[in-house]
Amino acid sequence: MCGIIGYIGKRNAFPILRNGLAKLEYRGYDSAGIAILSEELCIQKDVGKLQEIQFEEFEGPIGIAHVRWATHGRVSKENAHPHSDCHNEIVIVHNGIIENYRELKAKLMGKGHVFRSETDSEVVPHLIEEFTAEGFSFEEAVIHALRMLEGSYTILALKRGEQKIAGARKGSRSLTLGISDDGFLPASDVLAFLEWTNKVVYLKSEDVFFADAARGLRIYNLAEDRFVKRPVDRVKCSAEGVERGEFEHLMLKEISEQDETILRALQQDEEVIQGICDKMHHAIGTFFVGCGSSYHACLAGSYMFSKTAKLHVNVALASEFEHYEHFLTDKTLVFAVSQSGETADVLDAVSAAKRRGSTVVGIVNRDGSILARESDSQLFMNSGPEICVLSTKTYTSQVVLMDLLAYALAGKYEEGLKKIGGLYLDIYNLTSRSMRDYLARLARMLRDTRDIYLIGRGAQYATALEAALKIKEVSYIHAEAFAGGEIKHGTLALIEDEVPCIVFVSNGNKNKILSNAEELKSRGGYIIGVSPENEAIFDHWIKVPDAEELNPIIQIIPMQVLAYQLAVYKGLDPDKPRNLAKCVTVT
Ligand code: F6R
Repeated sequence: MCGIIGYIGKRNAFPILRNGLAKLEYRGYDSAGIAILSEELCIQKDVGKLQEIQFEEFEGPIGIAHVRWATHGRVSKENAHPHSDCHNEIVIVHNGIIENYRELKAKLMGKGHVFRSETDSEVVPHLIEEFTAEGFSFEEAVIHALRMLEGSYTILALKRGEQKIAGARKGSRSLTLGISDDGFLPASDVLAFLEWTNKVVYLKSEDVFFADAARGLRIYNLAEDRFVKRPVDRVKCSAEGVERGEFEHLMLKEISEQDETILRALQQDEEVIQGICDKMHHAIGTFFVGCGSSYHACLAGSYMFSKTAKLHVNVALASEFEHYEHFLTDKTLVFAVSQSGETADVLDAVSAAKRRGSTVVGIVNRDGSILARESDSQLFMNSGPEICVLSTKTYTSQVVLMDLLAYALAGKYEEGLKKIGGLYLDIYNLTSRSMRDYLARLARMLRDTRDIYLIGRGAQYATALEAALKIKEVSYIHAEAFAGGEIKHGTLALIEDEVPCIVFVSNGNKNKILSNAEELKSRGGYIIGVSPENEAIFDHWIKVPDAEELNPIIQIIPMQVLAYQLAVYKGLDPDKPRNLAKCVTVT
């Protein structure tokens, strides 16, 4: 989940790398580091967010850089990247996991190598060192070293005296090479270099590249054991939209964009939508898989498929999908839902589906991501870059896409477009200053609470789960969601006087959920209703328009705002919650 970037070219590498790291920081902000190569090799790294680290500007035309989300080894300066060999001659940055690092480290230590960190990554420079000491060139040593690594990774490496960057990608991590007029920019994400170029080479698994000031770019594939050619593509997404603008935080900006992003999600080719519907009609078994918010969107969608399209779909957490794999055949349709298109659990599910000959449809935001490239067909969310670690606008876009599919399956494509598009103004109002102020007052009241419980029924159960996730991850308040009918089966024991309970109410179907709210209230619960009507049972009312079956798109929005305000009142950074990263590339 770390982010890596490199530069080799005619310019000074430092500002390009420093800037690129800022664009990658959503992938990890435990520590950051930069290595610049000129006559000398200068390595700087420290713990903390990028803006907290004072890097000295060091001149040189070649460099690599890293932002870390700790997996192996705690957050410390020693564990920050870049990592180097015993003599500070070879330096690397790494994203991913080297599964056999313990064994490799023991062997290397047995040969006298001195390790300075607890990371799996540090074996790489020592392995390269070992092979160069045996007389291999830097390029050969990199290839030999990579052949010894098990796991999935992206790596960039430099060696003092070599005017080149070596790099590699294996497994589900993404590494894209930007090609600008004056040089090469390998990075985990095209966003890191889009201001310089949109010309890219997507590296395939087991590709090793050498970007050389003199010899240009060469790519060697470890599996094929030969040099290969890869096409040069142009990326469509732009670096626009990654600035905060007039907003205090990206989270608030991204929440506020949803009036437009739902419209952009609707900009689909009708033929593609109808083609996918056709596949759904003919499939023997349809699965929707995702993680976190994307999973919640799948769950919300499953109710819509059931009610509006009268079609059963299976919903699975991508990390649990292996337990369903034996159901997959060449007649199964698997929807892989992922904002980033790089979530390792989702990509594993895609690989499983492909192994069994199933068809994969990617519902994805990032063009050029692995999911976008590896799925058989794609529906793009068109949300623009989402940088805040929390999913907000991409969650609603995912639900929009599934709802649109459900309408199309029911032969109501045009009606669907109209109904969903008609939410534009409601969403605008829900993110308006007055609504934000209203929710800020509620947040002030709730900021010291220990627990919040949330209930919903049907698709609104998914809304409750998603709202709980938003509150937890950004405000660190314990929030737990239940299907309304479930609380009496145990959780009611936790309800005491004044415990906040958020209840999602839809006009068409409110009796049962209001009875569940009664159950909470009679044990002392403080009832916050998210509802088109003010009900007598509510202690606090969050007024939302009635969007009927589309309520999941509408009702999550005040919850996103509430979660944001809770974080702000608690003095937390909503864009970078502790322990999290935007793109989860570990399984
Ligand atoms: C929550 C959140 C995460 C992601 C999850 C899947 O706010 O952002 O739960 O939804 O990590 O990410 P993608 O959609 O990129 O696969």
